[in-house]
Amino acid sequence: MNAAREARTAGRTWFGADWNPEQWDREVWRTDVELMVAAGVNLATVGVFSWSSLEPRPGKYTLDWLVEVLDLLAEHGIDADLATPTASPPPWLGVRWPETRTVTETGVRLSHGSRNHFCPSSPVYRERCRAVVAELVRRCAGHPAVALWHVGNEYGQVCFCDLCAEAFRRWLQRRHGDLDTLNRAWGTAVWSQGYAAWEEVLPPRAAPYVVNPAQRLDFRRWTSDALLELYLEQKELIRAADPTTPITTNAMGFFAGVDYRRWTPHLDVVSDDSYPDPADPASVVGSAMTADLMRGLADGRPWMLMEQAWSTVSWREHNVAKSPARMRREAFQALARGADGLCWFQWRQAADGPERFHSALLPTAGPDTRQHRAVRALGAEVAALGRLPGAVPAEVAVLFDWPSWWAHSEAGLPSARLRPLEQLRRWYEVCWRQGTTVDLRGGGDDLAGYRALLAPTAFLLDAATRERLTAAVEGGAHLVLGPFSGVVDEHTRLWQEPVPAGLAGPLGARVEEHLPLPDDAAVELHPEPGTELPAGRALLWAEWLRAEQAEVWLRFAGGPADGGPAVVSRGWGRGRVTYLGCVPDDALLAAVLTRCLGLAGAATDPGHPDGVEVVRRGGDLLLLNHADGPRRYRLAEPMTDRLTGARHAGSIELEPDAVRVLTKEDL
Ligand code: GLA
Ligand code: ZN
Repeated sequence: MNAAREARTAGRTWFGADWNPEQWDREVWRTDVELMVAAGVNLATVGVFSWSSLEPRPGKYTLDWLVEVLDLLAEHGIDADLATPTASPPPWLGVRWPETRTVTETGVRLSHGSRNHFCPSSPVYRERCRAVVAELVRRCAGHPAVALWHVGNEYGQVCFCDLCAEAFRRWLQRRHGDLDTLNRAWGTAVWSQGYAAWEEVLPPRAAPYVVNPAQRLDFRRWTSDALLELYLEQKELIRAADPTTPITTNAMGFFAGVDYRRWTPHLDVVSDDSYPDPADPASVVGSAMTADLMRGLADGRPWMLMEQAWSTVSWREHNVAKSPARMRREAFQALARGADGLCWFQWRQAADGPERFHSALLPTAGPDTRQHRAVRALGAEVAALGRLPGAVPAEVAVLFDWPSWWAHSEAGLPSARLRPLEQLRRWYEVCWRQGTTVDLRGGGDDLAGYRALLAPTAFLLDAATRERLTAAVEGGAHLVLGPFSGVVDEHTRLWQEPVPAGLAGPLGARVEEHLPLPDDAAVELHPEPGTELPAGRALLWAEWLRAEQAEVWLRFAGGPADGGPAVVSRGWGRGRVTYLGCVPDDALLAAVLTRCLGLAGAATDPGHPDGVEVVRRGGDLLLLNHADGPRRYRLAEPMTDRLTGARHAGSIELEPDAVRVLTKEDL
């Protein structure tokens, strides 16, 4: 059975959607699958929120309808991505066992009536999850339609209840050992927080003033680990019955609730839900960055888009529509950046519930619509292309770690305006705008082979990461650190040594003061001779840097660090460390990073046409024109467009919204 399924799915790019047949009468089901086939849909995610339809009363299982749905899919050659229904418990669970429901920071126990109202630490919730999943597995594992398992949905619950307090304490005991160590790690001598007994340790519940940042940081870590346990518990049940079918759960890109780096080693396929805002023309940069994050997290395994919106969502204040051409561009962007599947939320537009105005592949207005015709056209293109072979090569890694993001998002920092994701995005955009493909990696990843490591926001640098980065520099990488880097350790305690901690030595410079700029400060950044950098402006932030052995590239002119170094750099081992003690304006940031990439020997293209995204995937070169106007792109060699068969040499004209999938071969 598996061999037959593998033969069917090999070479396919998954193209599909969430399908919720339990919301519709049976007559609609057959129409749906027939329309799916006509649209090129080859994967349907079923069962995500079906718990009350699968177990209407405790222990009374009604799975026949689901098996019927799977049969129908198999009959039509459509793969099923079979979800466990545990993201939304039925009302009976929370009514009979109130302790299964989430408690907020302020002590409010949430009700059913929406979704996701579970407490990850509730033994009853977990037992009922295992029971319903066991039944699902008993009935459906080995079904010829099932090509992927989808555990839960968008894990991200945060609960502050007493059960979570107990589980948090057990986790803290494993992490810190004894209470003295915890007291030291959390710095509880501040504000009389010293714990005398484990029972006194709580989740960071609402309190009169700023809560202990180390406690909050550990609680975020615990929450991520606690949710991961839920995933693993279900994964094990599935694996015991079905040894081969890949298992996933859908991530949410740069989602703060969970450290995906700790999760994705347990996913056979990394899958992501991505909802770039069509009202923002630059959101294509964010979606590119998210795709690169997913590829990095997958670390050689496949990744796919599990959910995106065909046009509007229904959860923004003002839901701007996506043009079909933009949707197509976004779809090819994911393929270019390594995705092996494109799925949407959802197949048929809902008639009921809070998401009935969310777009779908099949709108309420039916198949004979502009929207659905565009779905079919894209389905046909994706089917004709087949799976795009090959990896996405990158010489540059951009470093991003959840614990640092978390610690850098707490209250009590010199400035809340130096936002880590915003700075990450600015640095990423510099690479994107010049067509330099990057991988998003973590400090704990294997960083060998990258010419440049860009770390725009490495506020928290633990001892192991410092050492790895130093080793990477010694081995030949050019490490570029953003402002406010290497400031705190894993407990978010200030390093009691020169900053950037662990790297100040190799850099030959150290930070003495962090100096957020007054709103009206006009601070310029002036280049030192020989750097060939332009002058520019410093935004938000300055630092008092003492450069001992480092070369100075830029100096502050004006403001609290007037005349002092703003960007410093030094060769070390076979590589180099550069440190930005400032936030340069866009043009100057681009110039500084381009200089760094150049020194690192990474390819850069100063003439890269603005708004054109270019990515190499295996032997293919994908070009997307996100700009308003036409663009021209120079080809290094003659290439053929796999979508149209057209042969291009010299340069290629790209109309707005253009998508080209070029190969060297003559087709
Ligand atoms: C998330 C969920 C879906 C749906 C969409 C709407 O991604 O997983 O169930 O609510 O958002 O955009
Ligand atoms: Zn709880």
